[in-house]
Amino acid sequence: MQRRRFIRLAGGGLVAAAVAGPLAACSAFEVPPGAVAAWQPPAADTELRRWLLAHALLAPNPHNMQPWLADLRTPGEITLRLDPQRLLPATDPYGRQILMGAGAFLELLLMAAAERGQRAELALFPDGEPAERLDGRAFARVRLAADAGVPRDPLFAQVLRRRTDRRAYDPARPPSVADGQALQAAAAPFALRFGLAGSTAADAPRLQAIRTIAREAWRLELTTEAPMMESMKVLRIGAAEIDRHRDGITITRPLLVALARTGLFDRSRFPAPDSQATQGQIDEFDAVTAATPAYLWLVSEGNRRAQQVDAGRAYVRVNLAGSAVGLAMHPNQQSLQEYPEVAGPYRAIHELLGAPAPKFTVQMLARVGHLPAGTAAQPPAPRRGLARQFGA
Ligand SMILES: Cc1cc2nc3c(=O)[nH]c(=O)nc-3n(C[C@H](O)[C@H](O)[C@H](O)COP(=O)(O)O)c2cc1C
Repeated sequence: MQRRRFIRLAGGGLVAAAVAGPLAACSAFEVPPGAVAAWQPPAADTELRRWLLAHALLAPNPHNMQPWLADLRTPGEITLRLDPQRLLPATDPYGRQILMGAGAFLELLLMAAAERGQRAELALFPDGEPAERLDGRAFARVRLAADAGVPRDPLFAQVLRRRTDRRAYDPARPPSVADGQALQAAAAPFALRFGLAGSTAADAPRLQAIRTIAREAWRLELTTEAPMMESMKVLRIGAAEIDRHRDGITITRPLLVALARTGLFDRSRFPAPDSQATQGQIDEFDAVTAATPAYLWLVSEGNRRAQQVDAGRAYVRVNLAGSAVGLAMHPNQQSLQEYPEVAGPYRAIHELLGAPAPKFTVQMLARVGHLPAGTAAQPPAPRRGLARQFGA
């Protein structure tokens, strides 16, 4: 029954009938300006620590959950924790990726501090590292002190321009060798191995092998109930939901918005693996993957909590360096996740990248390339913003 209704909708008639009113306004299919207001530069007179946080909250982070909490009670200090309500236990059972997002947040905060002539003294996990599961302890404490001699970071200029871009890239325009070197240099402050496949013809077999693993891992994620339902819970479909939450996975595609509005997209139920909706997403990802001209990765030897934070710090720098040279980027973490159903691709990607587990951990795998000529700029992803997230 549900399938027949869906096909009729995909055919067009019923959708048009159901959404004729809201369609006229059109705004249901756009990200509302308030949801992305955080990407405007903060007012110059914003209190120093809040000015730093206003930049840090633009960090890339898994499913855009923005799980960061800041304690500002001690003057000159920022203590950072994670919101236990905003973790992703199905796709990220050990919180490795959440800590990478925390690292990205921290890196932007430290860059912003330098920008304001502040020396930042950083203590990672000041009360001890979490064990297998994340706990309520702080992931970082930052003490600030004015120091006009602190060097500014040229990557700071990209903070408001950085994006994750999930669209297809130009298959014929991989990053140049020089661009690859710029990305590598951005990650150099951290003890991680940076790799890139796609800049030279000799990379072709490895590039193809990465594509195969990425596709299989994506298929597994979409057809495994726990990770799929975790994503379904944080879908924000249409302008009103996007504006209400300002986090999660943003969907503005008219058909899905229409289905959600008319109650025909039931997000409480695991979609059948052979459903049209799931197959459509797999096909779409396959096409984007086939056109991907290059992948980059970051590998740590070991997998300590501090290394996971460093991997996030390194990734945001690579993302910013990409933005500076006009490269789009898109993490593809499915094969790096630790839930049992994806163990095959996990092993395969580690072997392929010369990083056998458990000695090594591939912390990041991301698509990288140029958008096809004439493609419009990618709008930013929603953020809750300074006041909503950290109080007025
Ligand atoms: C550790 C980490 C893992 C991520 N994994 C994925 C992923 O597998 N697929 C994806 O589409 N985006 C992934 N992202 C990107 C986030 O979804 C993105 O940063 C977030 O939605 C906010 O968007 P923005 O980066 O454009 O600000 C990841 C980001 C981080 C930091």
